[in-house]
Amino acid sequence: VEPVDSEPDLSGLSVLITAGGTREPLDPVRYLGNRSSGKQGVALAQTAAARGAAVTLVAAHLEVPPPAGVEVVAVETALEMQRAVAERAGASDVVVMAAAVADFRPAEYADSKIKKSHDGPGDDSAPQIELVRNPDILAGVVADREGGDTPFVVGFAAETGDSTGDVLALGRAKLARKGCDLLVVNEVGVGITFGQDSSTVHLLRPGHEQVTVGPAPKAAVAHAIWDLVRSETATS
Ligand code: CTP
Ligand code: CA
Repeated sequence: VEPVDSEPDLSGLSVLITAGGTREPLDPVRYLGNRSSGKQGVALAQTAAARGAAVTLVAAHLEVPPPAGVEVVAVETALEMQRAVAERAGASDVVVMAAAVADFRPAEYADSKIKKSHDGPGDDSAPQIELVRNPDILAGVVADREGGDTPFVVGFAAETGDSTGDVLALGRAKLARKGCDLLVVNEVGVGITFGQDSSTVHLLRPGHEQVTVGPAPKAAVAHAIWDLVRSETATS
């Protein structure tokens, strides 16, 4: 539930938030993308600003308008997002990676539109598209801390669960693998979370029991995340 009067309890904090989904161009009219409305990232930016933080929002194709009172840096691709984050992370107290970042991009960009008969007249085959890995932006921020404890790094994970484990087990493994300070785990599936206005999340920290929030509006989820970030950064 959103407080009527937000206390400026995050004043003095410099916060960098990514939101939306990157798009990796294949040719001038096509891209490989991630489904993400950007609503949770925008809610985080809006609530942080309301609580007095200085907020920069690195925005990739938001489906909702960015909030007033935050600096917006628009990006298209994972590589652009990486550059925008790397340039600013060192001067930030908190980095929140709420964006859905494409893990892969087309190895080659075609300057002109790929035609159906891509290999000349009469060709009725389908083209093979080679992909290459994108850098892991969050892991890069963690690595760049070089033993220091700032910025406080928050990752997001959208998990469906699979044969190797349930949502929480996958979340714990991802928290350890990423080395972030807080992992916000969303349970996803068709019609769950993506584009919805409310969600249920599990907040995972190293050495702590999980905290489950929701189902709740994304603004309330955002406030719960900031409460936790504030308690974790207040003593450091
Ligand atoms: N992330 C990132 N750079 C990438 C991919 C993901 O910074 N190239 C960030 C996301 O913004 C998110 C976190 O890493 O905060 C977890 O993303 P997720 O896709 O769940 O994890 P991956 O490590 O990509 O693993 P997988 O997709 O295989 O589950
Ligand atoms: Ca991924």
